[in-house]
Amino acid sequence: MLDVLTQKIHDEARQGEAYAPFINDPTQYKKRFYIESYGCQMNFSDSEIVASILNGTGYGATRNYEEADLVFLNTCSIREKAEQTVRKRLTEFRKIKQARPGLLVGVLGCMAERLKSKFLEEEQLVDIVVGPDAYRSLPALIEEAEGGQKAVNVLLSREETYADISPVRLNSNGVSAFVSIMRGCNNMCTFCVVPFTRGRERSRDAASIIKECKDLFDRGYREVTLLGQNVDSYYFTPETGNGEPGNLSEAVTFARLLEEVAKISPLLRVRFSTSHPKDITDDVLHVMARHNNICKYIHLPVQSGSSRILQMMNRTYTREWYMAKIDRIREIIPGCGISSDIISGFCTETEEDHQDTLSLMEYSRYDLSYMFFYSERPGTLAQRRYKDDVPESVKKRRLQEVVDLQNRLSRESNERDLGKTFEVLIEGDSKKSGEDWMGRTSQNKVIVFSKQGNTCQKGNYVHVQVTDCTKATLLGEVV
Ligand code: 5AD
Ligand code: SF4
Repeated sequence: MLDVLTQKIHDEARQGEAYAPFINDPTQYKKRFYIESYGCQMNFSDSEIVASILNGTGYGATRNYEEADLVFLNTCSIREKAEQTVRKRLTEFRKIKQARPGLLVGVLGCMAERLKSKFLEEEQLVDIVVGPDAYRSLPALIEEAEGGQKAVNVLLSREETYADISPVRLNSNGVSAFVSIMRGCNNMCTFCVVPFTRGRERSRDAASIIKECKDLFDRGYREVTLLGQNVDSYYFTPETGNGEPGNLSEAVTFARLLEEVAKISPLLRVRFSTSHPKDITDDVLHVMARHNNICKYIHLPVQSGSSRILQMMNRTYTREWYMAKIDRIREIIPGCGISSDIISGFCTETEEDHQDTLSLMEYSRYDLSYMFFYSERPGTLAQRRYKDDVPESVKKRRLQEVVDLQNRLSRESNERDLGKTFEVLIEGDSKKSGEDWMGRTSQNKVIVFSKQGNTCQKGNYVHVQVTDCTKATLLGEVV
């Protein structure tokens, strides 16, 4: 689903680490900004919009904060650990600021709303606080901050999609790019802070999405990942939307959008993330099956395998319903890669509920999972309604069992691929050696193979036979 670098960024960010992007920056700018992003792909994609707005206001990017006039942290609130990491980082920047009083420090993204007064007033850690829907006001806010005032805008919007802003690709490998198709979330899963930090769901103008994907293809990109908190509820009606609908004059569903993007070129791979099990339709599955260039991979977070816990989480499906969805995917798209998100130790979770999660994982045969222990978030429905009553030691032990099981399932999934041949899009050199290429299969598995004896280039498609594997990577040979 992601290019290797972004996957790395994503994985590191999920572990609460930051990633400071390298930006190939022209030297025409008088001032410099440095941006660190935390959290989900959406946040990394937002940083590319911020970079575009900052370029427009005379700030060029740097990967070295020591030469920056402006430092931004694009923050994540999804779990407490992510917030702690950002706080620690801000304290470090406060020290740097003491030595360089002219330096401006800003907090962007999901932590902005909840922590605005704390950051600005109590701790004096930052000069600028901007929420995810207010990036267009950055030029004015920077000017205020340059004038010595504290600058804040954390207003959430019902309309903002940044449809007309052309993102500046940070850290791009020139092959894969993210394209944001919607913002916010209306689902109200009880554990989740996103509906509060990112606001109501809204879909971006379909014509602007297709244009952005076409432009990327024309510039040599060969893979786009359509991004949203809940892509299957994408719905754009041209009459009510902003911008020119082009030839898309009727309401556009996610299935339709996916198909339109796939039709740009058979050489453009299309991925998407994230799907909510309740919303992914047969239409989407059939569109995926119809187009070779729509990758056969679905990230379908289950969160828990217990129907009782799922109900408390307000996921609106049961264990059996989810299993039927897995069956349906395997029926319509044989060989589809499937991954999941799992939370261990949600409020009231018993040993039996936990066993239900393990058995559902076995049933689903996930190729990959992102696994977390429950972290109570202020303001969420779960925090207001339920007691966070599973002891931390129990949460961690259950999480370890989930991780151990996923490791086995990932290894078994890779072993099932031994001897098979896959079409692979080459993304660049392998991490370990410049003698090897790294690419991905349609199912989103990383595959490494030798450059020797072939004339492949980055961005090419090539057929590779799997000869060996580890838990995380396939190894192969060009055939
Ligand atoms: N505690 C632990 N994990 C959470 N997630 C979301 N909120 C929480 C929380 N409060 C996980 C879910 C979601 C993923 C992005 O993060 O699994 O799918
Ligand atoms: Fe959070 Fe649920 Fe929305 Fe995902 S679908 S962002 S978990 S509320």
